[in-house]
Amino acid sequence: MQTEIFTHITEETIARCAAIIRNGGLLGIPTETVYGLGADALNEDAVRRIFEAKGRPQDNPLIIHVAEASWIARYCENVPESAYRLAEAFWPGPLTMILPRKKIVPLRTTGGLETVGVRCPNHPATLAVIRAADVPIAAPSGNLSGRPSPTTAEHMREDMDGRIDAILDGGACSVGVESTIIDLTVSPPCLLRPGGLPLESLRQVLGEVQVDKAVLQKMADGERPRAPGMKYRHYAPKAPVTVVTGDPHASAAYIRARAGAHTGVICFSEFAEMFTDCTVKTLGSALDKSEHARRVFDDLRFFDGTDVTEIFAQCPDATGLGLAVRNRLQKAAGFCVVEAKA
Ligand code: TXA
Ligand code: MG
Repeated sequence: MQTEIFTHITEETIARCAAIIRNGGLLGIPTETVYGLGADALNEDAVRRIFEAKGRPQDNPLIIHVAEASWIARYCENVPESAYRLAEAFWPGPLTMILPRKKIVPLRTTGGLETVGVRCPNHPATLAVIRAADVPIAAPSGNLSGRPSPTTAEHMREDMDGRIDAILDGGACSVGVESTIIDLTVSPPCLLRPGGLPLESLRQVLGEVQVDKAVLQKMADGERPRAPGMKYRHYAPKAPVTVVTGDPHASAAYIRARAGAHTGVICFSEFAEMFTDCTVKTLGSALDKSEHARRVFDDLRFFDGTDVTEIFAQCPDATGLGLAVRNRLQKAAGFCVVEAKA
């Protein structure tokens, strides 16, 4: 299959993208978080092809992307009033809500679950495609299973060229980590995956929010996280990763004491000069967590093209977007985390 890349967003390309979706095809879609591998969420054959193209286990459910909050009622039942309050506050945006599914959403899409994840992405081109197709678009992140999520059309092409019909190039993703996932079918609501919307913002609207264990620690063998995808090793570069937490000066010193010519270092820009003999990628300034989120996947992807044999990563504290960045780094490291002491 030849994968077409649409680089100009025009009425015509939107119509062609919508036709791909309506015809059961596979389309790379830009969103503000990461690129998605999209298909008609209501078409079981199309959804089956998503799993095949990505090499994704069939029990790992997909989230569906809708055009606006009023679509929730088309695909979900027993919707709590809090879902509409969250949509009002944060949609379109990096928030996925888990709600009870209506039967119209196939079990193939939900990985056999009676719930479905729903999100309204904040990207005008993708919203236009969803509206024109008039169906929800099921889309996991557009990477091959186990690889870092793609934040540009080019990254998506690297993983998906020849496997899907087309990619809509909507530019680099402005958020850079995936959406925050909140389960509204339990009380109090439960954070299943930290992402582009900080936990603190959810708490402002919902009050109490619990945090699923899988967010900050490795699941024991046989233990089942509530977001099935959280059990898989993710975002893993080929070289082993060690995450170094703690005060940035202390973590930089810790890495400096261990780094050599074949070490990859992910560090805050302020410390890059300490590692000129290593292969360095920066996360941006230590204080700029939005920048860390935008860069983290790109940094992780970078090292696969190099000869590094180990990677050390500095890591922001766990407040605000730091929780999502830390979670992605920890998963890339298989939860190999050390705390540097000042
Ligand atoms: O930002 C995003 O959410 C991106 C863009 C493309 O929208 N999508 C994305 O999808 O990250 P994916 O499939 O890579 O991650 C969705 C996660 C998976 O870990 C999956 O297991 C979980 O959501 N999930 C989906 N439906 C669920 C459900 N009904 N209950 C619990 N977890 C669910
Ligand atoms: Mg993913």
